[in-house]
Order: sequence, then structure tokens, then C-alpha cells
Amino acid sequence: MKISVIGCGYLGAVHAATLASMGHTVVGVDVDPGKVQHLAGGVAPFHEPGLDELLRDGRASGRLRFSTNPADARDAQVHFLCVGTPQGKTSDAADLTYLVSATQALLPHLAAGAVVVGKSTVPVGTVEMLRGELATRPDVLLGWNPEFLRQGTAVKDSLVPDRLVYGVEGGRPAAFHPATGAALGVTAALDAVYGPLLAAGIPRLVCSFATAELIKSAANAYLATKVSFINAVAGLCDAAGADVTELSEAMGLDPRIGSRYLHAGLGFGGGCLPKDIRSFRAQAATLGISAVEDWMGLVDAVNVGQRMRTVGLAAQLCGGSVAGRAVTVLGAAFKPDTDDIRDSPALDVADRLAAAGAHVTVTDPKAVNNAWLRHPGLRFESSTQKALQDAELVLLLTEWDEYRHLCPATAGQLVRRRVVLDARNVLDAAAWQEEGWVVRGLGTAATSGGLTAAAAR
Ligand SMILES: NC(=O)c1ccc[n+]([C@@H]2O[C@H](COP(=O)([O-])OP(=O)(O)OC[C@H]3O[C@@H](n4cnc5c(N)ncnc54)[C@H](O)[C@@H]3O)[C@@H](O)[C@H]2O)c1
Repeated sequence: MKISVIGCGYLGAVHAATLASMGHTVVGVDVDPGKVQHLAGGVAPFHEPGLDELLRDGRASGRLRFSTNPADARDAQVHFLCVGTPQGKTSDAADLTYLVSATQALLPHLAAGAVVVGKSTVPVGTVEMLRGELATRPDVLLGWNPEFLRQGTAVKDSLVPDRLVYGVEGGRPAAFHPATGAALGVTAALDAVYGPLLAAGIPRLVCSFATAELIKSAANAYLATKVSFINAVAGLCDAAGADVTELSEAMGLDPRIGSRYLHAGLGFGGGCLPKDIRSFRAQAATLGISAVEDWMGLVDAVNVGQRMRTVGLAAQLCGGSVAGRAVTVLGAAFKPDTDDIRDSPALDVADRLAAAGAHVTVTDPKAVNNAWLRHPGLRFESSTQKALQDAELVLLLTEWDEYRHLCPATAGQLVRRRVVLDARNVLDAAAWQEEGWVVRGLGTAATSGGLTAAAAR
């Protein structure tokens, strides 16, 4: 099929490249000429494992190209809208202006009977709003196909998704072919797009627009709830002398609960979860569902609270204040395996420590280039060894494998004080303690020995 992907960021670039790998002819359109130039050259403008290879394959096959001109999408039978829906500047609600402008730019180039399918994460009611934008083209079909990929594993998530969700008019396939029984309309178009995935047995759910819009928001709200739940319990563990990592391991072995997203630590960030739970909260407020509104407010507050708690613990580990102390932060990306620093908990904590007077050096395997321009109060160092040199306190804030597997003996030779705050609870505390380190986690005070007099000096 001929397909266009409008908006080629973390979602759209991966979507375009994976569709081309399935045999479709794809044009990706983005307003950012720098991004388009990178993508057209077969190089992802951000770090995403496996994406460069797909881009190069797509380019070599002639099935994948990129452009800044929406007119280049005119031959496509299906157009996917993948532009950003960030938090609005003055409220928690999602800003839909990019979606509206992308739709308006596409409108004059839509072929007769074209199908326009949104993939961005949007508040309920967005499809109805976009229908207004397309009012002059009743021949154009609208659908919503929310995306669940995760940065860091986005290529795999796109090629082997857990499920496909189609939001369509009326909530069920519009019609069926009288002879074959195959679906027609948006469902048929999406079935053709995702043919190889459906053939591989990936489940597909067809539902109404409102349900499709809410499925994505509710899924993210649930994941955020799980993270904030275990982080709230981590506080309880510290107060009660229990260990949250042992507690969550035991809880997660119950298949009704599951272990994923049940790991206590610094909490979530990035370009999606924080703004999505705030958007969900705003939607609940508009619809008058105060339970969801209050719930999301608490989930958000617990999450942001972990950052303050980490800053407070850092001060304790420096004897009451970080002012004048040399602090090394391991991690700048919002999570491992990405260079995305949008709402990064690690950089938030690093900024707060610098504001409190610490001399902060930040290192990261991939995100230093993205971070240094936007965080002028911090010092950046791409070598872990150099970053650790003479540190009085080390904070592990993004759980890259490189940091999980740091050798405590080697790191101990570099620092001035062997004190580490493992805000992701991923280090082998016993191994580090054997090398003379004071180790502190979040919710693990009981097993990491709590604060010792030596650490507090
Ligand atoms: N990043 C993820 O892991 C992920 C996962 C699932 C869903 N989503 C959702 O996907 C959407 C996009 O997220 P993202 O992380 O890719 O954002 P992003 O900021 O990386 O990408 C958005 C892209 O849209 C482009 N754009 C803006 N206006 C445009 C226009 N008029 N025409 C063409 N391009 C335009 C921007 O230049 C940018 O490249 C959001 O709604 C997000 O919530 C993201």
C-alpha cells in the first residue's frame, strides 16, 4: 500500500520505517528540515536501537522516503497522524494545535476516499474535533489507532505489538464484503496495513473513537499508578524498616499483580507518561469524574515527590547540605536506551542539586549532547571514569546497563568519598559495601544500612 506518516519524531519515524519493512511504500512528512535530512540519509535523529538499520533498508529498497512537503503525501491511500500532543503551556490539558495544523496542511492533498488515521495520544473527543477540520471532505474516512510502543524497544514493539486497537465510526467494522466476509472501510484499510502482524496472530480490537482514545490514556494512567504505588510503599518501607525491592519482588510473583512497573525508584518521566496522566486528569475534570481526577493528581504528586526525596537524601548523605560538594550524576536520559531528555527525572534532580549549591557533573552514554545546551548550570562529561573523578557523592539516576554493572572497586579508586545514592535500586548493595561504599537506595534503608556517621560527614 501507499502510506504517509505525518510527524516523524520518536513515534512517527519508527512507524514509517517499520511499515516500509513490511513491504509498504511510505513517505514520512515532518516540518523539521533537520530531522527530515537525517531520516532521508538513513540515520535516526535520535537514539533508538534497530532504527538506523530499518531506515537504511527502507532507503535501499526505495520504499521509504522523507519530505517536508505535505504535497508529497498526495498518493497515499492511508495517512497516519503522528505529531506531538504535549502538555499545554497554561494547563494540564493536551495541546492539540500540532494535530490541527498537520490535518489542515494535509487536507488539500488528500486523494478521493483517502483514509486518515490518528496515532498520537489524544484526549477523548479529539476525533470529533478533527472531523470538523475535514468537514469539506465527506469522502475521507477517519480512524484512530493509538500507539503503545516504548522508547528503547520501539522497533520491536512496532513489529510485535501486544495488540492493535482500531477506533472506527460506530465502533465496529462499517460493512463486510458480501462474498468474502472481509471488513470494509477503515477496518479493512488498517487490516491491509497490518496484514503481516495480523497473520502472525497479533490481537486486534475494533471499538468506538471514544473508547480508542481512552484505551491509550487509561493504559498509561494504570502504568503510572503502578509506579507511584510502589514508590509510595517505598516511603512506608523506609519508615517501617522494610526493604521495598524484596517486597515488590514477592508481590510481582503473583500473576494477578505482575512484576513490571513495580520497581521502586526515582519515578517516571519522558515525553509521554507525565503529560498523559495530566491530560487524563484534565479530561476527568471536564467530564466531572472526580475519582479519576483526584487519583491522577496523587499519582503525579507521588512521582514528583520522589525527585524531592532524592534531593533530600543527597543532602543527608553530605551531612545536611550539598552546597560546595562535588556530586556526580550517572544518567541524563529519562530512561535507559534512549537519548530523550524530555522531563528527565535525572536532570530535574541534577538541576535541583546545582541550585542548592552542589558542583554537579552529569554523564550519560547517549544523552549528553541533548542535555548540555538546555542545562547550563550543570557540567557534562561523556566518560564515566572522568565524571567520577573526585566525586564526594555519586547518584545513579538512570539505570543504564553500564551503570548497573559498574565495578565498585574501580569506581572507588576514582572518587573522593565512597558514597552512592542508588535512586533506581539496581546496584548490588552488598558488593558495593564490601568495597567500602556507603550505599543508599529509595525504600531500602533497612538493608543498605541506612545513614552511617561516616556518610553523613
Ligand atoms: N514517544 C513515544 O514513546 C510514544 C509512544 C506512544 C505514543 N506517543 C504519542 O505520539 C505522539 C508523538 O510523540 P513523539 O514522542 O513522537 O513526539 P516528537 O516530538 O518526537 O515528534 C513529533 C513530530 O511531529 C512533528 N510535527 C509537528 N507539527 C507537524 C506538522 N504540522 N506536520 C508534520 N510534522 C509535524 C515535529 O516536528 C516532530 O518531529 C504524541 O501524541 C505521543 O504522546 C509517543
